[in-house]
Amino acid sequence: MITQQYFDTYEGKEINVYQLSDKIDVLICPIGATVLSIRVPDRFGKKTDVLLSMTECAEIAKNDAYMGSVVGRCANRISNGKFNLNGVSYQLTQNKGQNHLHGGNVGFNQKVFKPTIDGDSLLLELDSPDGEEGYPGNLKIVVRYSVKGSSFAIDYYAASDKDTLFNPTSHLYFNLNGESDGSILDNVVQITADSYLQVDENLIPTEKAAVANTPFDFSKPKPIGQDIDCQDVQLNIAGGYDHNFCLEDDHAACAYSTKSGVCLDVFTDCCGLQFYTGNFLNGQQGKSVYDRRSGFCMETQFFPNAINNSEWKQPVLKAGEKFHSCTQYVFSTL
Ligand code: GLA
Repeated sequence: MITQQYFDTYEGKEINVYQLSDKIDVLICPIGATVLSIRVPDRFGKKTDVLLSMTECAEIAKNDAYMGSVVGRCANRISNGKFNLNGVSYQLTQNKGQNHLHGGNVGFNQKVFKPTIDGDSLLLELDSPDGEEGYPGNLKIVVRYSVKGSSFAIDYYAASDKDTLFNPTSHLYFNLNGESDGSILDNVVQITADSYLQVDENLIPTEKAAVANTPFDFSKPKPIGQDIDCQDVQLNIAGGYDHNFCLEDDHAACAYSTKSGVCLDVFTDCCGLQFYTGNFLNGQQGKSVYDRRSGFCMETQFFPNAINNSEWKQPVLKAGEKFHSCTQYVFSTL
């Protein structure tokens, strides 16, 4: 079931939010196609919000944690904001030092998507014009949010009139203890990956490395905090986990809280999962207070900067082709 209600005024327009409900309730705002809450039953059946979020449209659009938003055109970093496509070199906005991050200065997270209710799904549409943030092609994007039982599915669709790059993700920050609990270090995580991508000092991936015998081994469930402060070059660079895991299976990851009993399973058709432990959260985020490591993200995507590494699956969307990818977040209790 989908219900809508007035939320806030943004740039002179009234903005409604949409609640998708079945066994879980998911609240969505069209600014940035942002997910504002995911309320799921805990082990006693009480609904708990497990998603960090902002409270006003202006904060949703501006916050540099990309909290709950769809990120695009390309998630993550592109080295020096440069790439070559069909022999043409392109320069994207450099909005993170030398690099391009999460779509540039005005990414999808700041855009007002057009909402349409389609049965039990909410469609959010956006047109991104040719040249926006340096990307070629007029790109049409549709994000479909659906709730069925205890599952929340995100489908991304897109098409462009020129060959372009497309690598969307959803920047959800979870704390399975409950969003205001303060720390995710006791959340237990398992990731279906034998390898991850090491990064340089600007968090640009350099090469694949085995997770075995490193703090990056989440092949068996372990608390996020177990190894996060180990002396490890990669953890030091990122101030925790902020790395892409190379997925072996469409059951990408799972996580649970021993406090609330809430379990999360992540399914995706993407090859990469950016596991980010909120290392840059620094207290005040709009009107909410979210300290460092009070939320974790499992951002499904192509490998970051893959366009500059031809061995990796390329995030290229050819003119006239249809892009589709799907990620599902499924909740249960212990
Ligand atoms: C992603 C990146 C992080 C950081 C956050 C937003 O997860 O990998 O380095 O930029 O987004 O704060």
